Amino acid sequence: MEFHVYENARAACEAAGVLIAAQITRKGDSVLGLATGSTPIPAYEMLTQWYDRGVIDFDRVRTFNLDEYVGIDHKNPLSYHAFMQEHLFSKVNLRPENVHLPSGNGAADAEAYDKAIHDAGGIDIQLLGIGRNGHIGFNEPADDFTYGTHVVTLTADTIEANARFFKSADEVPRQAVSMGIGNIMAAKCVVLVATGENKAKAVRDTIRGPITPRVPASVLQ
Ligand code: F6R
Repeated sequence: MEFHVYENARAACEAAGVLIAAQITRKGDSVLGLATGSTPIPAYEMLTQWYDRGVIDFDRVRTFNLDEYVGIDHKNPLSYHAFMQEHLFSKVNLRPENVHLPSGNGAADAEAYDKAIHDAGGIDIQLLGIGRNGHIGFNEPADDFTYGTHVVTLTADTIEANARFFKSADEVPRQAVSMGIGNIMAAKCVVLVATGENKAKAVRDTIRGPITPRVPASVLQ
């Protein structure tokens, strides 16, 4: 595990974008694990700019997103499907058949999602943000680490943190479908970006604390 500290949030996230761009340059049909939320936006902006300038090509790239809310229409601007369209998919030449997100239809498609990741040859590089409670990919603090894609009940802390995107906390979906910790750990490279003071405790617990499903990101140790 390597740690890099940057001057500001944009630089930290762009550094992750550099690693993703390098991966695509090395292997044109790379499999990217992608995240939503505020943290990765600068990386997507940077990848879009490099695509525009002809530096990277997404024609053969395949992507798998970490998660999607349960019970939210994919056209709803607050869905993660819509987020990815807005910040990356509509701006680069990714083929629609090569982009994958959990459907958000509860447990129904979880196994198919795991199989699709497996059939793609696994994830080459997985981009992660981190929740204030140490969650990664909405794998919330729990008694056990999860393996495959599954339905997650969001904690009160995550609902409160994500209420900023909705009209109120009441409107935040209570559940999500999330790629499990096992899928994340199976990625050949994992890049976690943490920015902002409110992530400091989660980062400390992730790096210095015990490896425990109570701090899901600690598994990266
Ligand atoms: C999003 C995801 C979440 C976020 C985390 C941090 O796909 O899996 O784990 O990475 O909640 O969100 P932000 O970046 O908005 O602070």
